[in-house]
Amino acid sequence: MKNISLETLAVHGSYKKDETGATNPPIYLSNAYQFKDGEHAAALFDLSTSGYIYTRLNNPTVAVLEDTVAALEGGIAALACSSGQFAEFMTIITLAKQGDNIVTSNLLYGGTHTLFTSQFARFGIEFRFADPNNIAEFEKLIDDKTKAIYIESVANPQGVVPDFKAFAELANKHKLPLVVDNTCATPYLVRPIEQGAHIVIHSATKFLSGHGNVLGGIVVDSGKFDWENSGRFNEFSTPDESYHGLIFTKHFGAACFAAKMRVSAMRDIGGCISPFNAFLIQTGIGTLHVRMQRHIENAKKLAAYLKTNKFVEWVNYNGLEDNKNYKMASAYLKDNGASILTFGVKGGYEKSKKFIEKVRLALHVSNLGDIKTIVTHPASTTHRQVPQDELESTGITANLIRVSVGIENIDDIIEDFKNALED
Ligand SMILES: Cc1ncc(COP(=O)(O)O)c(C=O)c1O
Repeated sequence: MKNISLETLAVHGSYKKDETGATNPPIYLSNAYQFKDGEHAAALFDLSTSGYIYTRLNNPTVAVLEDTVAALEGGIAALACSSGQFAEFMTIITLAKQGDNIVTSNLLYGGTHTLFTSQFARFGIEFRFADPNNIAEFEKLIDDKTKAIYIESVANPQGVVPDFKAFAELANKHKLPLVVDNTCATPYLVRPIEQGAHIVIHSATKFLSGHGNVLGGIVVDSGKFDWENSGRFNEFSTPDESYHGLIFTKHFGAACFAAKMRVSAMRDIGGCISPFNAFLIQTGIGTLHVRMQRHIENAKKLAAYLKTNKFVEWVNYNGLEDNKNYKMASAYLKDNGASILTFGVKGGYEKSKKFIEKVRLALHVSNLGDIKTIVTHPASTTHRQVPQDELESTGITANLIRVSVGIENIDDIIEDFKNALED
C-alpha cells in the first residue's frame, strides 16, 4: 500500500506476522544468533551479508520498533537505544570528534544541556548555544569544524517551536545535517524530515510509549543528507580500518549514518535497548495518535482555565492565540499546540511548591508524555542548583510549574488544580 496514514502505521507498525500467525511481535530475548557455518559468520562480521549476530548490534524485536519509528518519521532506517539520552549520545559521537563543534539551542531539555556541556566537553566536542528564535545567531556560530545544527521540535518546557524551514535552509547552505529532537511533538504533530531535517531523535520513554513503564530512545536517519559531498564527514567516505577498509557511503548508500551508528558506535560503546522494552514501546505506539489527540485537547482546555484563575500570574501555552510561540506552533504543529505548558503561581517559590504538594490526581514526578498528568516545579527540584539569574534568563522563574497534560477527563484535572491553587 502506498501513502499509508500515520494513524494506520501507528496501529499496525512494521511487524509482519510470522508462521505462528501471532498478531504481535514475539519478544526475542536471545542475546546471540546461531551462525550457519564459518563462512556465514565471517560474512556477517565483514558486513557483506545482513543478519543477526548479537543483540548489542541488532535484534528481531528491536528491529520491529526501529522500522516502525523510521516509517512514522518518514526516514529510511533507525537505531533504538537504552534511553533518549543515549540516542543523543550515539548521534553526536557518530557526527563529531575532538575539536569539532555543534551549534544548538539555548532552550534545550536540561538533561540534554548537561550531556552536551559536562560530558562532551570531556571528549573535546564543543556545543555553541543560540536563541532558537534567531537564525542569524545560529549562523554566526557555524565554522568549518561544525558538524551539525541541533534543535528541539518543541522546546521543553518553554514551548518554543523552531522555524523548521529556515533551519533546514541554513543547514543545507552550510552542508550540515539538521538534527531534531522530536520527543515533545511526536510525528503526530510534526514530521521534521518533511520539514527538511536529516536526523530525528526521540526519548521513547515519553509519548511514543505513553505508559510510563519503560526507558528507551531512538534515532531516525532520513537518508537525505549527502555525507559524501558535504566536505565535513571524511570518515563516512574513506576506508574504515575496523571493517577491513569498508567505505560507509559506498556500502550502505543513503542509510550510511544509521549504519555507522549501529555497526561502529553501538558495536563499540553499547547502550542498546532491551528487546522487552522495545516491545513495550511498540505496544504503546499503537495508540499514539489517539493519545496525542486527547493530550492536546486537554492541554488547550487546561491552559484556558488557568488563564481565568485568580491565583495564576501567567500561562505559557503555545496553543493559545496570544502566546509568543503560537505563530510557529500553528504553522508547524498542524494548527495545534503541544501538550506541555507552564504557568506561574502568584506568591512565588513557596506558593508554587505548595501547589505541587496539594494536587491529588496529578503526579509530582520527573517525567512527561505519560497518559497521567504530571506537574513539576523546576526551581525546587531539577533546577535547584542553578543560580537565580541563570534560571530567569532561560525563563525558568521561581514560580514556574511545568505541566505535561495527561489524557484523563480534563474536568477532574481542572478541579484538582483549582483546589490546589485555592488551598
Ligand atoms: C526533549 C527530551 N529529550 C531527551 C530526553 C531524555 O530522554 P530519556 O529520559 O529517555 O533519557 C528527555 C527527557 O525528559 C526530553 O524531555
